[in-house]
Amino acid sequence: MKSNELEFVDSFISEIGIYPADSLEALYPRCEAVGGASNYLQVKKIIEARHENAEGLDKTLYNKKNANYDFAVTFTGGYDYNYLSRLFQWIQNNEQYFGDTILEVGCDIGLVSCFLGRLFPDKQITSVDKYDKSIKVAQTMADKMGIRNVSFRRADVLKLTGRYDTVFSSRTMHENVKNGSLDMSYSLIELSRGHKQLIKPYSDVLAKLVSDDGYLISAERCNIDPMFYGWLLALQENGYNLIEETYSQFKVKELNKDAIFQAGVFCKSSESPMVDDISTFFTRLSCDEAGIDDLMGNWGRAPGWTSLVALDVCVDQFVEGYMTLRGYSGNPVCRYAVYTNKYDKDSSLVYQYVGPTGLRLTSNTFAAYKDANISSIRQSANKDMKNGFTVYRIVSENGVEKRGDQIKKPILDNPLLRRDC
Ligand SMILES: C[S@@+](CC[C@H](N)C(=O)[O-])C[C@H]1O[C@@H](n2cnc3c(N)ncnc32)[C@H](O)[C@@H]1O
Repeated sequence: MKSNELEFVDSFISEIGIYPADSLEALYPRCEAVGGASNYLQVKKIIEARHENAEGLDKTLYNKKNANYDFAVTFTGGYDYNYLSRLFQWIQNNEQYFGDTILEVGCDIGLVSCFLGRLFPDKQITSVDKYDKSIKVAQTMADKMGIRNVSFRRADVLKLTGRYDTVFSSRTMHENVKNGSLDMSYSLIELSRGHKQLIKPYSDVLAKLVSDDGYLISAERCNIDPMFYGWLLALQENGYNLIEETYSQFKVKELNKDAIFQAGVFCKSSESPMVDDISTFFTRLSCDEAGIDDLMGNWGRAPGWTSLVALDVCVDQFVEGYMTLRGYSGNPVCRYAVYTNKYDKDSSLVYQYVGPTGLRLTSNTFAAYKDANISSIRQSANKDMKNGFTVYRIVSENGVEKRGDQIKKPILDNPLLRRDC
């Protein structure tokens, strides 16, 4: 990033007058100062309910948040400051992918729209959002800044027609795709395909709005996880591949929490190197994230989503495993399994998923520990059963893991092995 690029972002941000906030509470006095104390309290309540997975709150949230200009800019600017400054820098670094006509979907109060308008004075930008109040604030912001090359429209992107050189979408996927129904403990491939199926109707909509040889640019709140993998797979089915050099992960503070976003430029054909093998690309990102050099070599522990990548890449044979459910058909609580490692016959792999904490871990252990590993997953399954959960044996049929019989009595284990572990 060149210093004049940083200066451009900084001067744009100071012109709108937004400042980072390190907690939701820190936004209160600012909102109060612009006469928005009661709006603040209502928006805070909606956001807190949303974190507890309340559905259907988007409309109420946006309408309250964007009730008037000063409140909308103060609240949104403080809340999203770190994400937006990072996004603006990334846009500048990738400005060659913004064509003469740009469609921005889900513009909210126009912070990104005005940045695009200012950065590309000779391009025509159309920014759409579902809600009137958002569009009104966005238009006011553009008027105040003297930005004339952005036209704002209230529209549902799902119903839009027309084609643009660049379609740009920042943080709109979650409001248009419901991913909650997937079994979170299954294999990475299964999970990613599940996400792809759910995302595909939305990626179809975006892809149809891009002109031939145009670019689809997206930044979404995902980890390097099955949802991101599913997003890449869905766009590839639409004929869009990621231009590898544009890929970036943003790790930013959102108030006092960590937030992670994946950004990239997608197109149908390009001179630039494209990601055609998504699985290899995803494996590499995931290993970099977990600090693993090479899954075919010597590694010890693969945490988080990398644990599932490690299984996909390394499993030779399933040995034994258990899954624990809340009730008979409830949510998966735990999953434990032991496998042999195809790249290292001297090692065995142990996968552990602990639902309540979200912990996932694959450990690559010496072959000598195989029996102790089996003993240890049996003990975990017995403990879960004692705690009132429903425990099933996992069976593998042609490499696909399925739920087997329910375990009704404690699993007998060799006491000699137990002493060893
Ligand atoms: C999380 S906000 C992101 C705002 C902005 N893109 C950014 O990243 O700062 C999502 C925005 O997308 C809008 N939106 C979601 N789905 C939409 C749709 N189908 N059509 C139009 N706007 C939509 C919402 O109204 C909201 O303003």
